[in-house]
Amino acid sequence: MLRFRLIKFNYRSEGIQIFFHNGHCPMSKLLLIDDETDVQYSFRRNFDSADIELTTASSGEEGLALIPKLKPDLVLMDIRMGGITGLETLRRIRQMDTKLLVILMTAYGSTQTTIEAMKLGAYDYLTKPFDVPKLKELINKALKAARDMKQVVSYQPLLESEDYELGVVGRSEPMQQVFKLIGQVAASDATALVTGESGTGKELVARAIYHHSERSSQPFLAVNCAAIPEQLLESELFGHERGSFTGATTQRLGKFEQCNNGTIFLDEIGDMTPPTQTKILRVLQSGMFERVGGNQPIKVNVRVIAATNKPLEQAVAAREFREDLFYRLNVVRIHIPPLRDRRDDIPLLVNYFLKKIAKEHDRKPKSIATTAVKALEKYHWPGNVRELENIIRRAHVIAKSEAILSADLPTEVTGQGASSGSAPAAPGEISSTDASALARQLFQIAKRDPKLKVLPAVERELIIEALKDSTNNQVHAAKLLGITRATLRKRIEKFGIHRELKIG
Ligand SMILES: Nc1ncnc2c1ncn2[C@@H]1O[C@H](COP(=O)(O)OP(=O)(O)OP(=O)(O)O)[C@@H](O)[C@H]1O
Ligand SMILES: [Mg+2]
Repeated sequence: MLRFRLIKFNYRSEGIQIFFHNGHCPMSKLLLIDDETDVQYSFRRNFDSADIELTTASSGEEGLALIPKLKPDLVLMDIRMGGITGLETLRRIRQMDTKLLVILMTAYGSTQTTIEAMKLGAYDYLTKPFDVPKLKELINKALKAARDMKQVVSYQPLLESEDYELGVVGRSEPMQQVFKLIGQVAASDATALVTGESGTGKELVARAIYHHSERSSQPFLAVNCAAIPEQLLESELFGHERGSFTGATTQRLGKFEQCNNGTIFLDEIGDMTPPTQTKILRVLQSGMFERVGGNQPIKVNVRVIAATNKPLEQAVAAREFREDLFYRLNVVRIHIPPLRDRRDDIPLLVNYFLKKIAKEHDRKPKSIATTAVKALEKYHWPGNVRELENIIRRAHVIAKSEAILSADLPTEVTGQGASSGSAPAAPGEISSTDASALARQLFQIAKRDPKLKVLPAVERELIIEALKDSTNNQVHAAKLLGITRATLRKRIEKFGIHRELKIG
């Protein structure tokens, strides 16, 4: 990886700016406000792997003077400093910019000050001395949140426009419907539920809603409910009181409190435990909640956008997800169809990703052979737009010339390139087209005579076929059918197949 480093003095503050650049990620600007030279030194030493431009200031006054010109993505600031305090500095930062993310650092563990600071809209806080890996993780998380807030996501179909800044690309009929809904939801303050398979662009759509809403000058915070361990999610969302559980050594504000007046994006909402679901329902109904272990009601004004790739209706039917919460979230539903159901978007997306990648590398976009685009159009895209982006990125790297050819695409894509155009199956998976063609035929039979009990009949025959094919090897047969051996055994018993095939 190519890396160049430039060190120069900042003429205004005499602070030092250090540029780290590895050539493909946009550089993030980090401002450190701390009067301890040791801390400044440790930051410089520890952040040489990130694409970060670090500027240091030794006082709140100096930091405040730097912000308008520097426009940092993230500020890390000590609470106790000579001159104006960190709290006062934060207050003044908020007057300048409602969204600039600030992480506070304190050596004193003073809960009261920390809480004050969080109420003023600090993104998070850390106690010194730092655990460097944790600090890096937090900084990366905050920088991602800063990017999410900054990048204007346009939902208009970008065709010939040169303005290829992050957009939700698409011109197919279903995407036109999605754009329409984004516009309608953005204009209101209603809760929105974005659904769709993995990689269809749910987060992108959520951010587009935020950018076009009246809350766009306020924070946008994303919480991935599936990525946070169950027992910590409630505290992450609602905060906790000191001593409320083992490890809760200080009081902490949750994302709802931090995000007051802003927008919260609850990703993978189907993964919440029942107590968290109950609390979310209450916030949606009344804006009220209590911190974990607390009994003082707190009121917030937060817009919720939720997303899920699981069918919530099924979770409701299985009593895993509260029905009342489902209806509350489902006020406006934006469903993003899988990519295989909107193949007209593929060439447009390919073009978009080629331009996006070229921009990141600061070079001219590569072209792509028509045969390669044709193969991409035929593939069944189990990973949706994310998979398409990854395949284009990979092809961009391995293409030997300025044009991407079919040979630069993975075989699972081109393997079906010459085929009939039906949706091909990934290894170990029946294609949706094959499955629906079969289902249609069977259904016609079922319709002719409802007494036929088509499902058990077909299941029985499938099991017999699989057992015959694997000479009664149940492990093998179960594998062929995509079920467990235990399930197979139960079915053999249920359908009386063991007698027929003389198996034990
Ligand atoms: N319509 C689109 N136009 C441009 N880029 C898109 C589009 N849809 C998705 N992407 C890109 O594909 C990737 C995946 O999108 P995103 O993270 O929004 O999907 P998701 O539905 O939230 O997936 P998951 O369920 O796995 O979290 C992102 O890099 C996103 O920018
Ligand atoms: Mg997502």
